[in-house]
Amino acid sequence: MTNPVILELKDLTMQFGGVKALNQVNLSVKKGEILALIGPNGAGKTTVFNVVTGVYKPTNGEILFNGSSLKGKSRHRITKSGIARTFQNVRLFGDMTALENVLTATDVHNKSGLMGAMFTSPRSRREESASRKKAQEILEFIGIANRSDQLARNLPYGDQRRLEIARAMGTNPQLLLLDEPAAGFNPSEKKALGELIVKIRNSGYTVLLIEHDMSLVMDISDRVAVLDFGEKIADDLPKLVQDNPKVIEAYLGVPADAS
Ligand SMILES: Nc1ncnc2c1ncn2[C@@H]1O[C@H](COP(=O)(O)OP(=O)(O)O)[C@@H](O)[C@H]1O
Ligand SMILES: [Mg+2]
Repeated sequence: MTNPVILELKDLTMQFGGVKALNQVNLSVKKGEILALIGPNGAGKTTVFNVVTGVYKPTNGEILFNGSSLKGKSRHRITKSGIARTFQNVRLFGDMTALENVLTATDVHNKSGLMGAMFTSPRSRREESASRKKAQEILEFIGIANRSDQLARNLPYGDQRRLEIARAMGTNPQLLLLDEPAAGFNPSEKKALGELIVKIRNSGYTVLLIEHDMSLVMDISDRVAVLDFGEKIADDLPKLVQDNPKVIEAYLGVPADAS
C-alpha cells in the first residue's frame, strides 16, 4: 500500500512536569488506513490525540497534516482543517437531542455565524436546513437515526458511544481519532463496533484508533503502533506486533514489577 501520508508525527515530545508522556515519537498515518494505537494505561495514547487536536502544545517535535504543520493552530482551526476526535469518556451534551449533538459539530463550517442566526438571514436558514439534513444522514449511517429526537442522556450507553462518533463525523473530517470507542462493550457490541469502524473507513475516512481489546484490534486494523512509557516500541502489521517480545513484555510487565 503506497497511500499518501495524512498525519505525521515527527520526534514528538510532550512533557508534563517531570513526566514525558510522549518521548520523541515518530508515527505516520496513511490515508485510508485503520491504524491502531495500543499500549498499557498511561503509555501516552490519549496524549497523542490531545497534542494532535491542539489541546496541548508539544514540548518538542512537529505534527504534519496533509503535509502542513499544525504548529500554533487553534483547536478550532485544526478541526476545520479535517481532524475530529472522540473522547475516552463519553462527552455529549446530555440535555440536547442526538440530532442537536451532531449539529453542534456541523456548525464549524457554517459561515453565517451568530449575527446570521440572530437575524435568521436567508443564508443562515439555508445553512441550518442543510446541516440538519447532513446530521440526519450521519445518524443514519451510524445506525442510530431512530434516536435522533431523544436526549443524549437518555440513550443506552452503546448508542451514546456511537453518537460520539456521529458528532465527530459532523465536522466533515478526513481523519477520525477514536479514543477507546469500545470501552465497556460486551463481545457482540465490540464486533458490531468493529464492523462500523470498517464501514467508516471504507466510505473514505482515515481512522486512528486507540483500543485495548486485542481481538478487535487484530480483526480490523491495517497496522498497529505500540506505545510504552511515552515511547513507540513497535509499529507493524497486526500479526507481527502480536508476537513482538517487546510488546508482550510491555503488556505483561517484567518479573521485577510483580511485587
Ligand atoms: N494534563 C496532564 N498533566 C499531567 N500529566 C498528564 C496530563 N495528561 C496526561 N498526563 C500523564 O501522561 C501520561 C500518559 O497519559 P495518557 O496519554 O492519558 O495515557 P493513555 O491514554 O495511554 O492511558 C500519564 O502518566 C499521565 O498521567
Ligand atoms: Mg487514554
